[in-house]
Amino acid sequence: MNEVSNILESRYPGLYANIEMMLVVAEAQFNDQTSQAPSEFLLDHTRRTAAIAHKLFKMEEVDTFLPILVALYHDAGKFHEGEYHRDGVPEEEHAALLTETMLTAFGVDRVEIGAVLKALRALYDNRVPCIGPCRIVQDADRLDKFGGAGCGRLLYQGSAAWTRSSRWAGTDAA
Ligand SMILES: [Fe+2]
Repeated sequence: MNEVSNILESRYPGLYANIEMMLVVAEAQFNDQTSQAPSEFLLDHTRRTAAIAHKLFKMEEVDTFLPILVALYHDAGKFHEGEYHRDGVPEEEHAALLTETMLTAFGVDRVEIGAVLKALRALYDNRVPCIGPCRIVQDADRLDKFGGAGCGRLLYQGSAAWTRSSRWAGTDAA
């Protein structure tokens, strides 16, 4: 267990494990259909992105529950039905539908679900402002892609300066 999983487990037992299983199954289905070797890149990337986003949100001193949900689901639609971007539907839309189904099944409040879906859709839809959780998850996603050097600078050296420069307006995720 880590900080991210502990936050989810304390409010909705089993939710974190379900999210991880969904990611593992999606990538396995893609690997099967494309005759690729087993891998868990999606799970590993999602764990790192959520951990980075969690640290960023803690710097902002906001409740991290909804933002880390956005981070954990942000790539959930990447391998829709075992395929990669084959149906022309943005992967974030697939992610939003998966998110809504799972969070509803776990009894998450409708308003909170709506906030998560809005942030997920803001990741790709330019008509929706990417602020709050969307912005930080987008940054965390990119930082993970930069690799350890970028994350290290952010989290252990320049965090205060970075936080001041990237401060977002309140918790306008709803
Ligand atoms: Fe990502």
